[in-house]
Amino acid sequence: MSVSTDQNSSLSPAAGLRVAVISGSVRKDRMGPTIARWVAAALDPAAALDPAAALDPAPVDLIDVAQVALPDDSLLYPGGGPKSEVADRIATADAFVFVTPEYNHSYPASLKRLIDWHYGEWRLKPATVVAYGVQGGHAAIAHLRGVLAELSVVTTRRALGLRAPWTSLDDHGRYAPDAELSRGLTASLTELRWWAQVLADARRDRPLMT
Ligand SMILES: Cc1cc2nc3c(=O)[nH]c(=O)nc-3n(C[C@H](O)[C@H](O)[C@H](O)COP(=O)(O)O)c2cc1C
Repeated sequence: MSVSTDQNSSLSPAAGLRVAVISGSVRKDRMGPTIARWVAAALDPAAALDPAAALDPAPVDLIDVAQVALPDDSLLYPGGGPKSEVADRIATADAFVFVTPEYNHSYPASLKRLIDWHYGEWRLKPATVVAYGVQGGHAAIAHLRGVLAELSVVTTRRALGLRAPWTSLDDHGRYAPDAELSRGLTASLTELRWWAQVLADARRDRPLMT
Protein backbone atom coordinates (compact mmCIF):
# COMPACT_ATOMS: atom_id res chain seq x y z
CA MET A 1 0.00 0.00 0.00
CA SER A 2 1.31 3.44 -0.89
CA VAL A 3 0.70 5.69 2.10
CA SER A 4 2.45 8.86 3.15
CA THR A 5 3.96 8.89 6.63
CA ASP A 6 4.71 12.61 6.58
CA GLN A 7 3.90 13.73 10.13
CA ASN A 8 2.81 17.17 8.99
CA SER A 9 0.35 15.81 6.49
CA SER A 10 -1.63 13.48 8.71
CA LEU A 11 -3.98 14.17 11.55
CA SER A 12 -1.37 12.82 13.92
CA PRO A 13 -2.45 11.41 17.30
CA ALA A 14 -0.33 14.11 18.93
CA ALA A 15 -2.70 16.75 17.61
CA GLY A 16 -5.46 15.27 19.80
CA LEU A 17 -7.94 15.58 16.97
CA ARG A 18 -10.34 12.81 16.07
CA VAL A 19 -11.46 11.96 12.56
CA ALA A 20 -14.44 9.85 11.56
CA VAL A 21 -13.96 8.09 8.23
CA ILE A 22 -17.47 7.40 6.97
CA SER A 23 -17.95 4.75 4.31
CA GLY A 24 -21.30 5.37 2.65
CA SER A 25 -22.14 2.34 0.53
CA VAL A 26 -24.03 -0.74 1.74
CA ARG A 27 -23.97 -3.16 -1.23
CA LYS A 28 -22.76 -6.70 -0.77
CA ASP A 29 -19.08 -6.91 -1.86
CA ARG A 30 -18.89 -3.13 -1.98
CA MET A 31 -15.70 -1.19 -2.61
CA GLY A 32 -16.26 1.35 0.17
CA PRO A 33 -14.48 -0.33 3.11
CA THR A 34 -11.39 -0.97 0.98
CA ILE A 35 -11.08 2.72 0.18
CA ALA A 36 -11.93 3.68 3.77
CA ARG A 37 -9.07 1.51 5.05
CA TRP A 38 -6.69 3.25 2.63
CA VAL A 39 -7.77 6.61 4.06
CA ALA A 40 -7.54 5.39 7.66
CA ALA A 41 -4.01 4.12 7.06
CA ALA A 42 -2.98 7.55 5.78
CA LEU A 43 -4.48 9.18 8.86
CA ASP A 44 -2.87 6.82 11.34
CA PRO A 45 0.04 4.94 9.72
CA ALA A 46 1.27 3.47 13.02
CA ALA A 47 -2.05 1.80 13.79
CA ALA A 48 -2.32 0.53 10.21
CA LEU A 49 1.02 -1.23 10.51
CA ASP A 50 0.35 -2.52 14.03
CA PRO A 51 -3.26 -2.36 15.33
CA ALA A 52 -1.86 -2.74 18.88
CA ALA A 53 -0.18 0.66 18.39
CA ALA A 54 -3.56 2.40 18.10
CA LEU A 55 -4.20 4.94 20.83
CA ASP A 56 -7.20 4.72 23.13
CA PRO A 57 -9.33 6.52 22.19
CA ALA A 58 -8.26 5.94 18.60
CA PRO A 59 -7.77 9.15 16.60
CA VAL A 60 -9.50 7.54 13.63
CA ASP A 61 -13.00 6.10 13.86
CA LEU A 62 -14.19 4.02 10.88
CA ILE A 63 -17.95 4.21 10.48
CA ASP A 64 -19.33 1.78 7.92
CA VAL A 65 -22.89 2.80 7.11
CA ALA A 66 -23.71 -0.82 6.30
CA GLN A 67 -23.09 -1.65 9.96
CA VAL A 68 -25.33 1.13 11.31
CA ALA A 69 -29.00 0.45 12.06
CA LEU A 70 -30.70 3.83 11.79
CA PRO A 71 -34.21 4.36 13.19
CA ASP A 72 -37.22 4.22 10.89
CA ASP A 73 -37.42 7.27 8.63
CA SER A 74 -41.03 7.91 9.73
CA LEU A 75 -39.50 9.21 13.00
CA LEU A 76 -37.27 11.79 11.29
CA TYR A 77 -37.90 15.50 11.78
CA PRO A 78 -35.95 18.68 10.94
CA GLY A 79 -32.76 18.82 12.95
CA GLY A 80 -32.45 15.07 13.37
CA GLY A 81 -34.76 12.71 15.24
CA PRO A 82 -34.32 10.12 17.98
CA LYS A 83 -30.66 9.66 18.84
CA SER A 84 -28.96 7.15 16.55
CA GLU A 85 -26.48 4.49 17.64
CA VAL A 86 -23.61 6.44 16.03
CA ALA A 87 -24.62 9.94 17.17
CA ASP A 88 -21.97 10.01 19.90
CA ARG A 89 -19.24 8.85 17.54
CA ILE A 90 -20.11 11.59 15.05
CA ALA A 91 -20.39 14.17 17.84
CA THR A 92 -16.95 13.25 19.17
CA ALA A 93 -15.24 13.65 15.82
CA ASP A 94 -13.43 16.90 14.99
CA ALA A 95 -13.40 16.20 11.24
CA PHE A 96 -14.89 13.83 8.69
CA VAL A 97 -13.74 11.98 5.60
CA PHE A 98 -16.70 10.88 3.51
CA VAL A 99 -15.82 7.86 1.39
CA THR A 100 -18.54 7.54 -1.19
CA PRO A 101 -19.27 5.88 -4.50
CA GLU A 102 -21.12 7.59 -7.31
CA TYR A 103 -24.54 6.14 -8.12
CA ASN A 104 -26.46 7.65 -11.02
CA HIS A 105 -24.58 10.95 -10.91
CA SER A 106 -24.75 11.43 -7.15
CA TYR A 107 -23.85 9.81 -3.84
CA PRO A 108 -25.93 6.90 -2.51
CA ALA A 109 -29.18 7.19 -0.55
CA SER A 110 -27.59 5.17 2.27
CA LEU A 111 -25.15 8.00 2.94
CA LYS A 112 -27.87 10.65 2.70
CA ARG A 113 -29.86 8.79 5.37
CA LEU A 114 -26.89 8.83 7.74
CA ILE A 115 -26.42 12.53 7.12
CA ASP A 116 -30.11 13.36 7.63
CA TRP A 117 -30.31 11.43 10.88
CA HIS A 118 -27.86 13.84 12.50
CA TYR A 119 -27.61 17.60 12.72
CA GLY A 120 -25.70 19.24 15.57
CA GLU A 121 -23.18 16.41 15.41
CA TRP A 122 -21.94 17.71 12.03
CA ARG A 123 -22.04 21.46 12.59
CA LEU A 124 -19.00 23.76 12.38
CA LYS A 125 -16.62 20.93 11.56
CA PRO A 126 -14.60 20.25 8.41
CA ALA A 127 -14.90 17.40 5.93
CA THR A 128 -13.17 16.12 2.87
CA VAL A 129 -14.52 13.68 0.31
CA VAL A 130 -12.94 10.64 -1.29
CA ALA A 131 -15.29 9.53 -4.05
CA TYR A 132 -14.96 6.75 -6.58
CA GLY A 133 -16.74 5.29 -9.56
CA VAL A 134 -16.38 4.29 -13.17
CA GLN A 135 -15.94 7.97 -14.03
CA GLY A 136 -14.17 9.04 -10.83
CA GLY A 137 -17.09 10.12 -8.64
CA HIS A 138 -16.91 13.88 -9.29
CA ALA A 139 -20.69 14.35 -9.42
CA ALA A 140 -20.96 12.66 -6.01
CA ILE A 141 -18.39 15.13 -4.65
CA ALA A 142 -20.29 18.13 -6.00
CA HIS A 143 -23.64 16.98 -4.60
CA LEU A 144 -22.17 16.16 -1.21
CA ARG A 145 -20.56 19.61 -0.94
CA GLY A 146 -23.96 21.31 -1.28
CA VAL A 147 -25.59 19.15 1.37
CA LEU A 148 -22.71 19.59 3.79
CA ALA A 149 -22.80 23.37 3.38
CA GLU A 150 -26.42 23.31 4.56
CA LEU A 151 -25.19 21.59 7.73
CA SER A 152 -22.46 24.22 8.33
CA VAL A 153 -19.76 21.72 7.44
CA VAL A 154 -16.71 23.27 5.76
CA THR A 155 -15.43 21.11 2.93
CA THR A 156 -11.79 21.24 1.88
CA ARG A 157 -10.97 22.76 -1.49
CA ARG A 158 -9.35 19.51 -2.53
CA ALA A 159 -11.41 16.37 -2.80
CA LEU A 160 -10.29 13.11 -4.32
CA GLY A 161 -12.04 11.32 -7.18
CA LEU A 162 -10.84 7.77 -7.79
CA ARG A 163 -11.50 6.34 -11.22
CA ALA A 164 -12.28 2.59 -11.20
CA PRO A 165 -10.29 1.84 -8.02
CA TRP A 166 -11.04 -1.89 -8.37
CA THR A 167 -8.35 -1.95 -11.07
CA SER A 168 -5.67 -0.91 -8.52
CA LEU A 169 -5.86 -3.60 -5.84
CA ASP A 170 -2.76 -5.43 -4.61
CA ASP A 171 -2.48 -9.18 -3.96
CA HIS A 172 -4.14 -8.73 -0.55
CA GLY A 173 -7.11 -6.84 -1.99
CA ARG A 174 -5.88 -3.51 -0.62
CA TYR A 175 -6.20 -0.33 -2.61
CA ALA A 176 -2.73 0.47 -3.99
CA PRO A 177 -2.96 3.46 -6.32
CA ASP A 178 -0.11 5.29 -7.98
CA ALA A 179 1.93 7.84 -6.03
CA GLU A 180 0.07 10.82 -7.44
CA LEU A 181 -3.21 9.72 -5.86
CA SER A 182 -1.50 9.09 -2.55
CA ARG A 183 -0.04 12.59 -2.70
CA GLY A 184 -3.54 13.91 -3.46
CA LEU A 185 -4.89 12.20 -0.37
CA THR A 186 -2.06 13.63 1.71
CA ALA A 187 -2.85 17.13 0.43
CA SER A 188 -6.56 16.75 1.25
CA LEU A 189 -5.77 15.51 4.75
CA THR A 190 -3.33 18.35 5.34
CA GLU A 191 -6.09 20.81 4.53
CA LEU A 192 -8.55 18.88 6.69
CA ARG A 193 -6.13 18.99 9.60
CA TRP A 194 -5.79 22.76 9.32
CA TRP A 195 -9.55 23.26 9.33
CA ALA A 196 -10.05 20.76 12.14
CA GLN A 197 -7.75 22.70 14.47
CA VAL A 198 -9.13 26.10 13.45
CA LEU A 199 -12.75 25.03 13.91
CA ALA A 200 -12.10 23.14 17.16
CA ASP A 201 -10.62 26.35 18.57
CA ALA A 202 -13.49 28.43 17.21
CA ARG A 203 -16.19 26.11 18.61
CA ARG A 204 -14.51 26.43 22.01
CA ASP A 205 -13.71 30.18 21.96
CA ARG A 206 -16.37 31.73 19.74
CA PRO A 207 -19.60 29.70 19.95
CA LEU A 208 -22.00 30.51 17.10
CA MET A 209 -25.31 31.65 18.56
CA THR A 210 -27.51 31.07 15.51
C1 LIG B 1 -26.86 1.80 -8.86
C2 LIG B 1 -25.47 2.15 -9.38
C3 LIG B 1 -25.32 3.30 -10.11
C4 LIG B 1 -24.05 3.67 -10.57
N1 LIG B 1 -23.89 4.86 -11.22
C5 LIG B 1 -22.64 5.30 -11.51
C6 LIG B 1 -22.46 6.62 -12.02
O1 LIG B 1 -23.36 7.39 -12.21
N2 LIG B 1 -21.18 7.03 -12.29
C7 LIG B 1 -20.10 6.21 -12.06
O2 LIG B 1 -18.97 6.64 -12.29
N3 LIG B 1 -20.25 4.96 -11.57
C8 LIG B 1 -21.50 4.50 -11.27
N4 LIG B 1 -21.67 3.25 -10.74
C9 LIG B 1 -20.49 2.41 -10.52
C10 LIG B 1 -20.07 2.49 -9.07
O3 LIG B 1 -19.48 3.72 -8.77
C11 LIG B 1 -19.13 1.35 -8.72
O4 LIG B 1 -19.81 0.13 -8.95
C12 LIG B 1 -18.68 1.42 -7.27
O5 LIG B 1 -17.83 0.33 -6.99
C13 LIG B 1 -19.85 1.34 -6.33
O6 LIG B 1 -19.43 1.52 -5.01
P1 LIG B 1 -19.63 0.36 -3.93
O7 LIG B 1 -18.95 -0.86 -4.52
O8 LIG B 1 -18.94 0.86 -2.69
O9 LIG B 1 -21.10 0.18 -3.78
C14 LIG B 1 -22.94 2.84 -10.29
C15 LIG B 1 -23.13 1.66 -9.56
C16 LIG B 1 -24.36 1.34 -9.08
C17 LIG B 1 -24.53 0.09 -8.24
